[in-house]
Amino acid sequence: MRTISIINLKGGVGKTVTSINMAYQLMQRGSRVLLVDCDKQGNTSKFMKCHSYDKKSLSDILTGTENIGEVIVPGISGAMGYIDVIPANMTLLAADRRVMLDTTKPQQTRIRSALEQIREDYTFCIIDCAPDINISVINALAASDDVIIPVTIDKFAFDGIKEILEQIDDVRRYYNPRLNFAGCLITSYRDNEFNNDGVETLKAMCSRVFDTKIKWTQMVSASVFVSEPVSVYSPRCGASKGYAKFVDEYERGLASDEHDRRAANG
Ligand SMILES: Nc1ncnc2c1ncn2[C@@H]1O[C@H](COP(=O)(O)OP(=O)(O)O)[C@@H](O)[C@H]1O
Ligand SMILES: [Mg+2]
Repeated sequence: MRTISIINLKGGVGKTVTSINMAYQLMQRGSRVLLVDCDKQGNTSKFMKCHSYDKKSLSDILTGTENIGEVIVPGISGAMGYIDVIPANMTLLAADRRVMLDTTKPQQTRIRSALEQIREDYTFCIIDCAPDINISVINALAASDDVIIPVTIDKFAFDGIKEILEQIDDVRRYYNPRLNFAGCLITSYRDNEFNNDGVETLKAMCSRVFDTKIKWTQMVSASVFVSEPVSVYSPRCGASKGYAKFVDEYERGLASDEHDRRAANG
């Protein structure tokens, strides 16, 4: 299983839309996918129709449920196929606080330990993170192989990028040496001078930016409204093509990293 955290300190940059559409694209290519909601807003859970206060959620994994199987909501067929989900809700706020107070067990690696139990069951696990660096987000990073930062090009676009990159370095140093910064993904892109200048600014700030950009289209909001991946709702729109291309680019990156690793090992 390869685990990917989707993170940005800003809200509204397309973290949830990217998590959902990336999960869908990977499933379409034949992977078994687990989608983890790590945001108390629960938008991914709502999209996947499993937001609830009656079921177990990510909070239980952070605060002591031993068996992750009790928390996974099996995929129901429909537009999102058989993608399984670990849901989240507002109880994550209190769970984060409990983790911070409980020093009897390691605090940063609880999600990682839980995911270890099911690593043979899935090809990919995608974690949709909250716009924050709290203990559950640090747990997500400590459990991940890759981090992807969705960004929109707007007035405050790059606020917080430096802080996330520093946080990734810290988690790599202290908890998870294999954590790879896969890159920034430009979302809600419009092809104009202002956006294109922004892309250059981002490239100067940040070592890795995916070549693929996800275009702005109202089809994205419309697809979220009816709980469909954009490629099902509007297969020909720019964002649909963008997410397919982006996942191609991500998978090419994995293949070339693997190639480099083998070459380095002789
Ligand atoms: N490519 C896009 N084109 C148009 N609207 C988009 C696009 N990506 C995301 N959005 C819209 O932006 C809003 C925020 O997206 P969301 O994924 O929920 O952000 P986050 O999870 O970062 O808070 C949503 O209303 C979503 O429909
Ligand atoms: Mg979100």
